[in-house]
Amino acid sequence: MIFEILLSLIFTLVGYIIYDYIQMSQFFKRRGVKHFPPVPILGNIHNTTFRKMHFVEEMQLVHDAFPDEKYVGFMDCTKPILFIRDPELIKQITVKDFDHFTDRREFLTEELDPLFASTVLFMKGEKWRQMRTTLTPAFTGSKMKSMLPIIVENANNIIQYLHDHQTEIIDVEDLVNRYAVDVISSAGFGLQINSLKDRDNELFKIGINLLNFTLKQRALFILSSMFSDLTRKLGVRFYPEKTYNLFRNLVATTMEYRKREHVERPDMIQLLMEAKGEWSADELTGQVFNFFIAGLDSTSSAIVMAIHELALHPEIQEKLYQECRHLEEDKGLTFDSLSELKYLDCVINETLRKWTAGIFIDRTCVKTYGLPPPREGGRPYTLKPGDVVYNMLNAMLMDPNHWPEPHKFDPERFSEENKHNIKPYTYMPFGAGPRICLGQRFAMMEVKALIFQITLNFMIVKTEKTMDPIKLKPHNFSIKALDGTWVKFQKRE
Ligand code: HEM
Repeated sequence: MIFEILLSLIFTLVGYIIYDYIQMSQFFKRRGVKHFPPVPILGNIHNTTFRKMHFVEEMQLVHDAFPDEKYVGFMDCTKPILFIRDPELIKQITVKDFDHFTDRREFLTEELDPLFASTVLFMKGEKWRQMRTTLTPAFTGSKMKSMLPIIVENANNIIQYLHDHQTEIIDVEDLVNRYAVDVISSAGFGLQINSLKDRDNELFKIGINLLNFTLKQRALFILSSMFSDLTRKLGVRFYPEKTYNLFRNLVATTMEYRKREHVERPDMIQLLMEAKGEWSADELTGQVFNFFIAGLDSTSSAIVMAIHELALHPEIQEKLYQECRHLEEDKGLTFDSLSELKYLDCVINETLRKWTAGIFIDRTCVKTYGLPPPREGGRPYTLKPGDVVYNMLNAMLMDPNHWPEPHKFDPERFSEENKHNIKPYTYMPFGAGPRICLGQRFAMMEVKALIFQITLNFMIVKTEKTMDPIKLKPHNFSIKALDGTWVKFQKRE
């Protein structure tokens, strides 16, 4: 009896997989959209799933294979997605016709992950608009100005650490992760954790692993994309309970303390406290969680990759040093003088071109939308509510039609003389339109402050452990060098 039940279950499952495979193989063909043939269950993400390549490289293959198309088809498991590769169309979707595309893709449902779903990053429609309005005042010029000293204090901790470890080859990823967690905790929430000293700090350990998905989490992604109702009913959670509890406790205890002691600070927690009546405890916690998932890995990879590229390009480093030294001797680093560091701006922009963490700008269609044909003589395409598009980001930034010699690290692309050559909507490391990165100014300040301090104090030296050329570690999201980033920091006399 059990054998028969098992057998019929296996037949049903195999039947379902075959049916699903036929559907997905036909999907884009029927609509006249070019695509790579999918494989059963995994669609076009087999290379990423088995960590054979980074998702950026998987997208790049598709982007490069169809150079004459405005958009191409891609199967994320069984979910059809349009990759938009035409800059003009990207502008229409993200800016001009934003009201048709107000939401991101729902990666994790509220049931699978209540915190993920309640972040401003993944909130939808009117709720998103209200939360974005609540949080925007945290990122004004004057708030940024008041946060710079906190950032500089954390950068100084790094400089001190490097002074004490001059003879060693440094694991830059680990070092910068500590800086990023310390900055977000202190500037965002008033928590001084100094993870350089408190090396096993719980927030640090959980924070840096939020996007480092385990095999179980990757399997859950695939299952929830194929059988969303089943995963919903089973009540499976994406992160372990201790992750939820850590963030809930962090927000609750900080708010309680500030209320009790009448403490006011110009940070995120303060804003959330003022807006408290309108939002549930999970929604408030979601925003703190948001700044960790949106702001930690992205900022830390920008800094790590900048350091790596500087180690490989001593001539660029020297030019940057001269600029930093002049500013230091002239007026020192302040919120206003930071914007005078033009070459530093070019170096960071070029780092974000070659190695941006964004990968794609996802949007879900919320109102029916007609796309022009993918090529001359093709058929128009109608997007229906629920359909998902990925506006190409990294693939666009490595496209030789937009960026000559894309693999060359060349900050001069962004100089006053050259920046007019950049075509609109081919450079969007922070996204575009009303859902553009909320933390862009904060991130740039955090990245620049540390690179400024490091360049001023040390020569970043390539060693036998420094990967050259850089290849990416296979991953769904995180942008890191395959063998890590290892350099020496040699004190400048
Ligand atoms: C170099 C570092 C960073 C990069 C490259 C980056 C990039 C991005 C990108 C590409 C998006 C999607 C934009 C879109 O859909 O158009 C985004 C969204 C977002 N980022 Fe960042 N980000 C960085 C740092 C930060 C930091 C430090 C914070 C917070 C302190 C932050 C907070 C957010 C938020 C809240 C959103 C969602 C905005 C919304 O949906 O309304 N990001 N970021």
